[in-house]
Amino acid sequence: TILVLDFGITRRLRELNVFSEMLPCTQKLAELKFKPKGIILSGGPYSVYEDGSPHVDPAVFDLDVPILGICYGMQELAYRISPDNVIAGKHREYGHSMLKARSIGGHVDRLFEGIEDSMRVWMSHGDKLAKLPEGFHTVATSDNSEYAAIAHESKPIYGLQFHPEVTHTQNGTALLKNFAVNICGCKQDWTMEKFLEQAIAQIRETVGEKGQVLAAVSGGVDSTVAAKLMKEAIGDRFWAVLVNNGVMRLNECEQVQKDLSEALGINLTVVDASKEFLEGLKGITDPEKKRKFIGGKFIDIFEAEAIKIEEAAAKDPTKGGGKIEFFMQGTLYPDVIESLSFKGPSATIKTHHNVGGLPERMMNGQGLKLIEPLRSLYKDEVRALGRALGIREELVMRHPFPGPGIAVRILGEVTPEKVEIARQADHIFISEIRKAGLYDQISQAYAAVDPSRAVGVMGDKRVYGYIVVLRAVTTTDFMTAEAFNFPWEFLQRVMNRIVNEVHGVCRVVYDITSKPPGTIELE
Ligand code: XMP
Repeated sequence: TILVLDFGITRRLRELNVFSEMLPCTQKLAELKFKPKGIILSGGPYSVYEDGSPHVDPAVFDLDVPILGICYGMQELAYRISPDNVIAGKHREYGHSMLKARSIGGHVDRLFEGIEDSMRVWMSHGDKLAKLPEGFHTVATSDNSEYAAIAHESKPIYGLQFHPEVTHTQNGTALLKNFAVNICGCKQDWTMEKFLEQAIAQIRETVGEKGQVLAAVSGGVDSTVAAKLMKEAIGDRFWAVLVNNGVMRLNECEQVQKDLSEALGINLTVVDASKEFLEGLKGITDPEKKRKFIGGKFIDIFEAEAIKIEEAAAKDPTKGGGKIEFFMQGTLYPDVIESLSFKGPSATIKTHHNVGGLPERMMNGQGLKLIEPLRSLYKDEVRALGRALGIREELVMRHPFPGPGIAVRILGEVTPEKVEIARQADHIFISEIRKAGLYDQISQAYAAVDPSRAVGVMGDKRVYGYIVVLRAVTTTDFMTAEAFNFPWEFLQRVMNRIVNEVHGVCRVVYDITSKPPGTIELE
């Protein structure tokens, strides 16, 4: 394992099949649960010499493992040796720069081993080193940085002013590989198969011989992959519950049941509460109230089901015969990182969670322990894990779907009629997207219903019908997004099908709003 203190490089290392973990830059090393083979101090938007800037635990320097400081990380190295080593640069340096590496001899050259002497690198910094820290050599310079790369004369400590983790830096991956593999001695053996093996062993150890685990699943990628992983680890002692809240997509509940129960063999209970949800949604027009109602009702239903399962489990020795001790959640690494910032849980954290409020109440109320088997993975790694577990491709590549479902895709009051229109229109839109081979290029797509009706003319008759809003976006992190640029003919085809096939609709519009200012969902 390579320990990365704070943002950025983890992905590149994992692509090199070297496991790396990102922790806040203020992590106390005494509290670490593993011994890293190397430490990377990453870049950051601060000035080391300013009050309130983050600093690493001094124990980092006594751990006796190789250290690589990048940008702010290098300035931190220099600053800790002597505060006057770092100053504000005359002008900030952003963008490409030509790097000239030079050979000093011995271990000092190891970071640039096998890499040409001259290459384009990506710079992004305001501060710079005022002088070479004591005991260091300059191993590369650039037009604007006299100390573009430095290395300690006797210890494996290196600093880079540029960013090796960005794709604009030539040979950046080779540099990181030199550090992780050659200098730290990491093996490039972190594969999904290996992760799978380790994850299963770890779940078995945590849960024990008799332990039982409960989870809410949605049919989405994360909960499905996590559920299959649990199934592989502890068989039917894992209990998955799917609540049909009446605002799932066309045939979705049946399809999820088929996938999880029949194809993947997961011990699944489906609770059909659609009537209760739709009944309760009557008259609610405020988006937040809708979310609160759906979240609250979900918890009530899930808790009641948990009690039933507990009783069934106690009676059935083939299913373990014990108490349910754990609650499983498909939390991913980006969620973990979001709560790790040195300033505490970041302000950007979303208010909507898949099972809003569920863990706290169940954890405290029933003394359940949380188990999160995907918490070290990024989304694309979860997808790779899903493939390794034999989950079909279409499911592994599914777009995300919000917990409150179609309810946040019907503006204003949710009625069975509008749910049906949203379902039919969405089904047509997504089928056409799949047929056109565009599904995997889009991050999320759906059809929504605008209840303010419009006038139209159909078959020589005046009609008055709902407006269907199509939305499709591309994004990497769902925090910002752009509308997908469909060919015009495609949109015409979808419009034609919707007005012809979905009763009660006389207009179709395409939402081209980016996020911000729009959000991905309409409500
Ligand atoms: P917004 O609309 O905030 O959506 O741009 C960003 C991402 O979050 C999803 N989303 C939700 N997911 N419960 C969820 O589980 C919710 O209440 C919820 N609201 C939005 C949305 O689908 C998109 O992927």
